[in-house]
Amino acid sequence: MKKRILSGITPSGNQLHIGNYFGAVAPQIALQETHETNYFVADLHALTTIHDREQLEKNITGVVLDYLALGLDPDKCVFFRQSDVSEHSQLTIVLANYISYGQMKRMHAYKDKLQIGTSEESINMGLFNYPILMAADILLYKPHGVPVGEDQRQHIELTRDIADNFNKAYKASVFPLPEALISKEVGRIVGTDGERKMSKSLGNIIGIFEDEKVIEKQIMSCFTDPNRLKATDPGRVEGNPVFIYHDLMNDDKAEVEELKARYRSGTVGDVEVKQKLVLAHKRKFSSARARRKELEANIKLVRTILVEGAEKARKYASQTMAEVYQVIGEINQLNGENL
Ligand code: TRP
Repeated sequence: MKKRILSGITPSGNQLHIGNYFGAVAPQIALQETHETNYFVADLHALTTIHDREQLEKNITGVVLDYLALGLDPDKCVFFRQSDVSEHSQLTIVLANYISYGQMKRMHAYKDKLQIGTSEESINMGLFNYPILMAADILLYKPHGVPVGEDQRQHIELTRDIADNFNKAYKASVFPLPEALISKEVGRIVGTDGERKMSKSLGNIIGIFEDEKVIEKQIMSCFTDPNRLKATDPGRVEGNPVFIYHDLMNDDKAEVEELKARYRSGTVGDVEVKQKLVLAHKRKFSSARARRKELEANIKLVRTILVEGAEKARKYASQTMAEVYQVIGEINQLNGENL
């Protein structure tokens, strides 16, 4: 039996960049081969910040297309939208009763807002409750593991606490406690400034689906070894973002080794190293780029994929929901079977 994995993808509205891809998306997609994977677009979570219907639609569509284009395979993985499976909302209401207000106030997403001076008046309850919705997302499917970034660790811990409180209250083992699957090495990809984590808001990204001209510019303006003034100076390969990206993106390993050797001995210029990176990017992502265009032109197919994904997810989610209602007593002599 394959172990069950579940994860949610926030429709943040930004097109994915290579930091997202190598840090999160590629490992998630690789799990399709070895695990029973369930991935969903956390579109209800997006309401904490997005109150504009066009924007929401755009964000959700964007993330669905990105993932499908990058290799998420609906035949191998259950892929769906959170809002299509109403059990997510239903279980949230139940689970809220098995966690204290005090513990919720200690959750980072909320606490960090207060710390940067946001007033309580401007923090909506959706944000405050977000971790409970996330716990419901997870527990509905009783997964073994939840692959997430380091920033989500506290949310998985809360999910375990809620599951444990619930199980103890009814002396039942309804919810297995899920593991946080956090891969440290790949979680954090340095940006083109060579200093900070790659992030759209810092302007240090290399895109995947942008115009080729844009991507070329992003690569050509990437920081390299700051101590190397001319192409004949021996350069540093370790920690040099251009070589970090070559290692990630360039499938021609012999070329990468040759470039590294020439860089160390001062026989290759930064420009050539970057031009080869532009070509490596093209080789790596041209089929995903083409696939995204195809999907964009065939939204009907995308709809079918999501409808079928939601059907599969609902089957599981509705079973858990019935089990929960049974255990807590909402299914009873007035509505239950065999009584
Ligand atoms: N909060 C997660 C994030 O920001 C997204 C998410 C929502 C999630 N529900 C989930 C991740 C359930 C894992 C499991 O990245």
